Amino acid sequence: MIKSIINKINSCLPTLPEEKHVHEPILLNDALKHIKKCIKSTYVSTQGDYIDKFSAKIKNITEANYVLLTNNGTSALHMALMMTDIENCEVLVPSMTFVATVNAIRYVNGIPHFIDTRMNDFNIDTKKLDDYLKKNTLLKGNVCINKKTKKCIKSILIVHAYGYPADISKIIAIAKKYNLGIIEDAAGGLGSYHRLKHVGTYARFGILSFNGNKIITTGMGGALLIKNKRDYLKIKHYISTSRIQHKWVIAHDDIGYNYRMSNINAALGYAQISKLQLIIKKKKILHDKYTKAFIDSNCATIYNSTDNNTPNYWLNNLILNNEFEDQQHNLIKKLHANKIYARYLWTPQHLLSMHQKYPSMNMQNTIDIWRRTISLPSSYIL
Ligand SMILES: Cc1ncc(COP(=O)(O)O)c(C=O)c1O
Repeated sequence: MIKSIINKINSCLPTLPEEKHVHEPILLNDALKHIKKCIKSTYVSTQGDYIDKFSAKIKNITEANYVLLTNNGTSALHMALMMTDIENCEVLVPSMTFVATVNAIRYVNGIPHFIDTRMNDFNIDTKKLDDYLKKNTLLKGNVCINKKTKKCIKSILIVHAYGYPADISKIIAIAKKYNLGIIEDAAGGLGSYHRLKHVGTYARFGILSFNGNKIITTGMGGALLIKNKRDYLKIKHYISTSRIQHKWVIAHDDIGYNYRMSNINAALGYAQISKLQLIIKKKKILHDKYTKAFIDSNCATIYNSTDNNTPNYWLNNLILNNEFEDQQHNLIKKLHANKIYARYLWTPQHLLSMHQKYPSMNMQNTIDIWRRTISLPSSYIL
C-alpha cells in the first residue's frame, strides 16, 4: 500500500529538483529586476513606490475596500484582533489552524474557544457549531454568554485552512444569530474565492500572509483587508508607531507598532503577484494530476474543495482511508527517505500544552483528519 502511494505521488512530480518540499518559493528574473530597481531608488524601508503598487494589485485582485501591508500575517492578525475589543472575552476559533491564529487572540488577552472541523475537511463544521452554540450559550440582551464559563463569546475567527475557503455564508448566518463579530484568517488564501467573492473580504477584517511558503511571497509579509475607512485609518496609524504626521517633529500619540511592510519586500511581492494567475493555473494542473492519480485508489484520496468555492490550490493534502490511519507515520517516514518532504497537518491547537486550559467542543473530526492526512509537495514549476 505504501509503495503504491509513493509511486502515485512520484508520478505527479517533476523529476527535478531532486528534493521535493511541501512548498518552495519560485523566484524568477523579474524578482531580481524589481529588487534592483528598489535598491537603486534607495527607498528600501517603509516608504516607496512598491508599497503602493503591491497594495494596489492586492486591492484589485481581492476587491477589498482597503488594503494595508504588514511585516507578516501574524501582525495583521494582531491588529485585527486588537480592533475588535475582545479582552477577557471568548473568541471561537478552529483548532485546525496554525498557532499564529491563536497567538493573536492571546496577544490582546482574549480567550480562544476551540471549535471542530467538518468530517473529512479542514474547515469549520457549521452545523456542529450552530448546535453547539444553541446548547451551550444564552443571549443576554445582545451578548452571547457561554453558560459554562459565564464569559462573553464576542467573535469568531474563521480560518480558510490551507487556502481552501470555509463555508463563510453559513458562518455569517450563525454569527448574526448569536451576535458575533467575524474576522477572517485567509493567510494562505490569496486567489481563493467563496461564491465568487475573495476570501478575507466578507468580514470587517481579513488577513493574508506572504511568508516564504505561501502562494506568493515577499520573504516575510502580510496584508489586512479592511471594510471601513475608519478602521483603515486607525490601523494605518497604529502600525506606523502611532507617529503624528509631521515633516520634522517626531512625536507619537498612542502605543504604536512597527508592523509596516518594507518597500524591498513589496518589490518582491509585486514581481510575484503579477504572475498570480499563471501560478494558480500551474497549481491546478498539479492538483488535477494528484486527484487523477488517486481517483481509483482504495487507500487514499486527494482533498477537494466544495462546490461553492474556487480555491487557489496552495497545498495538496492526501487523506488516508480510515482503515489505513495507522500507516500515516510509516508513510511519511518512507516519503522522507525518498526525499519527498511531506508533512502532517498543523497539530490541533487544543492539544498544545499552552492551550489545554481553554474551552473547546468535542474535536472528533479535527483529530480524525489530522491522524489521516499528509500535505504533499505542492510547488509549481513555471
Ligand atoms: C492559518 C495561518 N494564519 C496565520 C499565519 C501567520 O502568517 P505569518 O507567518 O505571515 O505571520 C499563517 C502562516 O503560515 C497561517 O498558516
